[in-house]
Amino acid sequence: MAEEEDPEGPIIPSLYKPPALLPIAQLKEQLLYTIETYPVTIVVGETGSGKTTQIPKFLLEAGWCNTGQQIAITQPRRIACTSVAVRVAEEVGTSVGQKVGYSIRFEDVTSAATQVKFVTDGLLLREMLVDPLLSRYAVIMVDEAHERSLSSDILLSLLKKVLRKREDLRVVVSSATLEAERFLDFLSPDQGEMIHGKSKKDFGYIIGIEGRTYPVEIQYLQEPTNNYIEAAVEAVVKIHEHEPEGDILVFLTGREEIDDAIDMLGDRIAEMSSSQRKLIPLPLYAGLPTENQNMIFTKPPPGTRRVIFSTNIAEASLTIDGIVFVIDSGYVKLRSYNASLGIETLSIVPVSKASATQRAGRAGRTRPGKCFRLYTERAHQELQEATFPELARANLAPVLLQLLNLGITNLIRFDYLSPPPSSLVTRALDLLYSLDALDPYGRLTKPLGTRMAELPLEPQLARALLKATDPEFSCLSEMLSIAAMMTLQGHAFVSHDGGKKQLDAARRRFAVAEGDHLMLYNVYGAFVQAGLGNTAWCREHCLNHKNLVKAVSVRKQLAAHLDRFGIRENVLAAAGEGVLRVGGRPLAERVRRCLATGFFAHAARMKGDGSFTTVDGKTTLWAHPSSVFFNRKADWVVYSEIMEMKGKIYIRDLSAVDMDWLTEYAPEYYKIKNGRR
Ligand code: CDP
Ligand code: MG
Repeated sequence: MAEEEDPEGPIIPSLYKPPALLPIAQLKEQLLYTIETYPVTIVVGETGSGKTTQIPKFLLEAGWCNTGQQIAITQPRRIACTSVAVRVAEEVGTSVGQKVGYSIRFEDVTSAATQVKFVTDGLLLREMLVDPLLSRYAVIMVDEAHERSLSSDILLSLLKKVLRKREDLRVVVSSATLEAERFLDFLSPDQGEMIHGKSKKDFGYIIGIEGRTYPVEIQYLQEPTNNYIEAAVEAVVKIHEHEPEGDILVFLTGREEIDDAIDMLGDRIAEMSSSQRKLIPLPLYAGLPTENQNMIFTKPPPGTRRVIFSTNIAEASLTIDGIVFVIDSGYVKLRSYNASLGIETLSIVPVSKASATQRAGRAGRTRPGKCFRLYTERAHQELQEATFPELARANLAPVLLQLLNLGITNLIRFDYLSPPPSSLVTRALDLLYSLDALDPYGRLTKPLGTRMAELPLEPQLARALLKATDPEFSCLSEMLSIAAMMTLQGHAFVSHDGGKKQLDAARRRFAVAEGDHLMLYNVYGAFVQAGLGNTAWCREHCLNHKNLVKAVSVRKQLAAHLDRFGIRENVLAAAGEGVLRVGGRPLAERVRRCLATGFFAHAARMKGDGSFTTVDGKTTLWAHPSSVFFNRKADWVVYSEIMEMKGKIYIRDLSAVDMDWLTEYAPEYYKIKNGRR
């Protein structure tokens, strides 16, 4: 095990538990017996008790893979998949990708030898397209089911069906809170029904893991703060000055906030005396480069205190050892579907009581701890009890497209864990219809709809990519690069030395008047030309080398998907020598038109003051500071990302379009819209 192999020995021995001492260790036999006996096992236990890392190991040892089948463990988050796979591989004594591997979108680190596979819930859903009964798996563990992610909810519905067809399949559902009964009840036969000779009472079993937790003292603010980032940094400094040793975990909502907080804390550390300086700020968010992620899981040098600024990731899916103090901003960034806008946004909203409790609990895992809530006790009383399932608030278009492709046609009467509001279903179907993925009878169109479902991209981007081969657009090569770069979700650039000015200058070097998508295309092209191994070039241009290498791989994978559809990239175009003018239209215009065929529903028009307004004129949007149009004029644009911060709605990845293109490529959509106005 990692700890034992460390020649220096554990640095803070009491804070790092080897697997043998984890609460789950005592339950090994009982767990294996239950999984052997019942089709469904629900495991309830505190975060950190060993569910994710130990259950797959137990199953492996017990021979569940001896017949050549695999064990899958699903996670709602990519970052949890990779980090847990690394950990378990280490414990099993192999390198990742061998006996233990992971598979996330565009990154499959498994091999013929892989027996334990960590996979995102969304990706396992996709696997059902090729293997509807998931027959390659002996056991499927749906981890973090209580988080109620969209894909994990849908996966449970589908597993319910599979369980009725496969007598040998074992499903383990792990949950940190007490939603156990609900999951068991959902997966089990109805009263009086028998499945494989089993009735409701002998179909499943709930196992509770007695986790040892320590008391956590909770402190509230007396007065509300209007800047929780500043308040968090203040609290960190106070803890460092007045409290005994122990690491600090700070919950913020996103990468920007985390970067700001680390900058601010950096200034404070610079003012400290050298004996006080032993404070190491670390970021933790999805999309963080792996090197930085690893720093979270490596032991700090003796006598130092780590401050981990994290998003919601550290609330339940990742356990960081050594945390004694928690600072809770009280906010979380959630995806939600703004039905009136018809778009999905990321909004910063207050956490639920359940989340706040879970966050505080992170401080009491190894000894008594403290949690500082950056809000008043009164505000806490007003929080809602639990987080709404994602299914009830997300854009359902991507997942409904998957279900349709699996042959599930009645989406209203599908057996959901909790049914989504029918307005959300209708909205999603409307969008899919206007993207030509559905015919007027609600059936998937062929080949466009099925291809859109099979591409691992969200439907709007998938459509734009598939349209690129139309003679009118002839920009497949360009769209492939753009789509690949878009999957980096704004992480192509990075400020290496924290210099915002440098970063802006670098962005400007690649910027073009037509918009951000073509800028991304330029970045991609320049990177490939500079040479894939050219890290110095990336540094010089504030580009994230690892992510750009990833984009190259994503592009290849997308091209391979298209190849399977019989769509081949023109060799000349791939070499940058494609036909530059088709029908008198320059390439840049064809690309923008092509983008409009996918993103027409995300159109906005610039107002005089530099802000934008939605098509119906009802909502104001702002160009994200990273956009070409942050300080440049435009008329109409389409955008591919939208987020809400501090009450303002920002759009990212913008391209200039003509208004006529919108009605030309989406006549139905804009007819309906105008009709409603
Ligand atoms: O799934 P659950 O929350 O029950 O626990 P787990 O993720 O299996 O974690 C069990 C223990 O493994 C934790 O106490 C962590 O200290 C440790 N762990 C780690 O050190 N590094 C990881 N990447 C994952 C887990
Ligand atoms: Mg876990």
